[in-house]
Amino acid sequence: MKFFIDTANLAQIREAHSLGILDGVTTNPSLMAKEGVKGERNIFDHYKKICEIVDGDISAEVISTDFEGMIAEGKKLAAIHKNIVVKVPMIKDGVKAIKWFSDNNIKTNCTLVFSSGQAILAAKAGATYVSPFIGRLDDTGWDGLALIRELHQIYTIQNFNTQILAASIRHVNHIIACASAGAHVCTSPLDSILGLLKHPLTDAGLLKFIEDSKKMQEAVLA
Ligand code: G3P
Repeated sequence: MKFFIDTANLAQIREAHSLGILDGVTTNPSLMAKEGVKGERNIFDHYKKICEIVDGDISAEVISTDFEGMIAEGKKLAAIHKNIVVKVPMIKDGVKAIKWFSDNNIKTNCTLVFSSGQAILAAKAGATYVSPFIGRLDDTGWDGLALIRELHQIYTIQNFNTQILAASIRHVNHIIACASAGAHVCTSPLDSILGLLKHPLTDAGLLKFIEDSKKMQEAVLA
């Protein structure tokens, strides 16, 4: 399973990248707005900076909701860097745009996916990635992980090339369950990625090893 970070924050992207396990980045208009990035020039510069940090797929979302607007925006986004993936919402014009981008060798990430029907359409249109939002499904009493399991089954049976990019990750157990359910990619906030490191027995064990290593050094010196 590939690891993407779900943020537009450059410091967090650098921190995750420094671990050596980061395969890509996903952003969305809310995450970009959180960083205070405004205006086309600054937005494009920001995506460029992300591409300079991480050598992997970087999702940049279109803001338009009509076919022509999405194509015009997507072309400009794709021209920023070879690793840009155009993120397109799961709406009727979005499906048409994904097909157009796919026919023109531009990678896409179909976002705001909440059902298997939507994910089948995205795959048929040729999306590179499909982003089921598992946390938002869980928030509303649906089962986000059940969707990942079902998509894995459908995509495997149907031999679709689209990669399942589990998004809207809320915690460590979501990442583990996505790996177990067969997600190709999991995009997570930095806290959830770093959360994978934590176990109290590791901390207690290390403390004991450090204490005992001091005794070992005393014995050598004596
Ligand atoms: O990038 C899309 C998705 O991961 C958003 O997550 O936390 O806003 O539900 P969230």
